[in-house]
Amino acid sequence: MRYSSLITIAHAFLISLTLPSAQPQVCSNKGTFSTNSTYDKNLNLLLSSLPSNTTANGGFYNATAGQDPNKVYTLALCRGDLDTTKCYKCVDTSSRDITKQCPNQKEAIIWGGACILRYSNRNIFGTMEVAPFQYVPNPNNISSTELDHFNQTLYNLMGSIVTQASNSSLKFAVGNASFSSSKIVYALVQCTPDISQRDCRICLQGAVGDISSCCGGKEGGRVLRPSCIAWFELFRFYDSTLLANSPTQAIPPTPTSTQAIPPTPTSDNSNSLTKTRRGMSDM
Ligand SMILES: *[C@@H]1O[C@H](CO)[C@@H](O)[C@H](O)[C@H]1NC(C)=O
Ligand SMILES: *[C@@H]1O[C@H](CO)[C@@H](O)[C@H](O)[C@H]1NC(C)=O
Ligand SMILES: *[C@@H]1O[C@H](CO)[C@@H](O)[C@H](O)[C@H]1NC(C)=O
Ligand SMILES: *[C@@H]1O[C@H](CO)[C@@H](O)[C@H](O)[C@H]1NC(C)=O
Ligand SMILES: *[C@@H]1O[C@H](CO)[C@@H](O)[C@H](O)[C@H]1NC(C)=O
Ligand SMILES: *[C@@H]1O[C@H](CO)[C@@H](O)[C@H](O)[C@H]1NC(C)=O
Ligand SMILES: *[C@@H]1O[C@H](CO)[C@@H](O)[C@H](O)[C@H]1NC(C)=O
Repeated sequence: MRYSSLITIAHAFLISLTLPSAQPQVCSNKGTFSTNSTYDKNLNLLLSSLPSNTTANGGFYNATAGQDPNKVYTLALCRGDLDTTKCYKCVDTSSRDITKQCPNQKEAIIWGGACILRYSNRNIFGTMEVAPFQYVPNPNNISSTELDHFNQTLYNLMGSIVTQASNSSLKFAVGNASFSSSKIVYALVQCTPDISQRDCRICLQGAVGDISSCCGGKEGGRVLRPSCIAWFELFRFYDSTLLANSPTQAIPPTPTSTQAIPPTPTSDNSNSLTKTRRGMSDM
């Protein structure tokens, strides 16, 4: 394990990127701003309204504050299966953490477990970005006898949900597939809904391609990019009840389609579904 021997503060950052329970973040080193500057005030204004505006807007929100050169661009995206309460909590925690962990940085990104929060002094809306990225492997290994079958099953499953997610307006899909008599792999992919169908597919295909570097031979893991995430585990880590039971009432970030993409059965018992709305119903 590459973090087992690291205990110094200097390495705490690395550890935080490696342990599954931590919140990976990147302070982009694109320059700094002064405390109490106009940029600082614009940023704080945006961050403080982000939790409520993101939940009110169905789980995705982008906004700007101020004028160049102090203009701040920010966006937040909750994982597609989160209810309002969890979405609010995730964005709220992330907005505090991002300023704590990247103090005075003009640009930063945090993947708060179940939400993404980004801000910058440049326009980050509508453009696919694949870097900076983070890998968060689950430390547990797949047994070597199961590896081949697992790999095959995972790639088939990922391929199927990548198509579904990129073709849907919410840019989100989950699925599961069994790969041995008793084991099931669960997977989730999501893009920020401001990017196009094509860019979403490209971003996710790249993320899935990175799984072997990130998490090859592991029971699970996350590939985190600014514009998309791919995540898999041997346990159901998302709330599929909310997905399955949601009434059809789309809150589309892009006003193109409110239609559900029907599950696409594949040859290996995989099942998947795409949400017809963001799961913002009361729980
Ligand atoms: C920023 O403003 C606050 C409140 O006005 C003040 O307490 C603090 O000392 C200021 N910090 C700096 C570095 O100017
Ligand atoms: C958040 O939403 C409120 C109410 O719609 C709006 O007045 C405010 O401008 C929004 N904040 C940002 C930063 O977009
Ligand atoms: C949010 O992003 C969309 C897509 O890029 C863009 O058209 C829109 O103007 C942005 N909203 C704000 C408030 O900047
Ligand atoms: C996984 O396998 C690697 C390499 O074989 C080994 O070093 C590591 O200790 C294993 N991890 C667990 C959690 O068993
Ligand atoms: C998804 O969109 C692509 C490109 O528009 C299309 O070729 C493909 O058939 C669609 N797949 C599904 C499952 O709708
Ligand atoms: C598939 O298995 C090989 C080992 O045989 C491993 O190196 C590779 O990373 C695996 N791919 C995934 C996605 O786990
Ligand atoms: C796997 O996915 C199918 C289809 O979406 C769903 O009906 C089923 O409940 C899922 N299985 C588990 C164990 O979550």
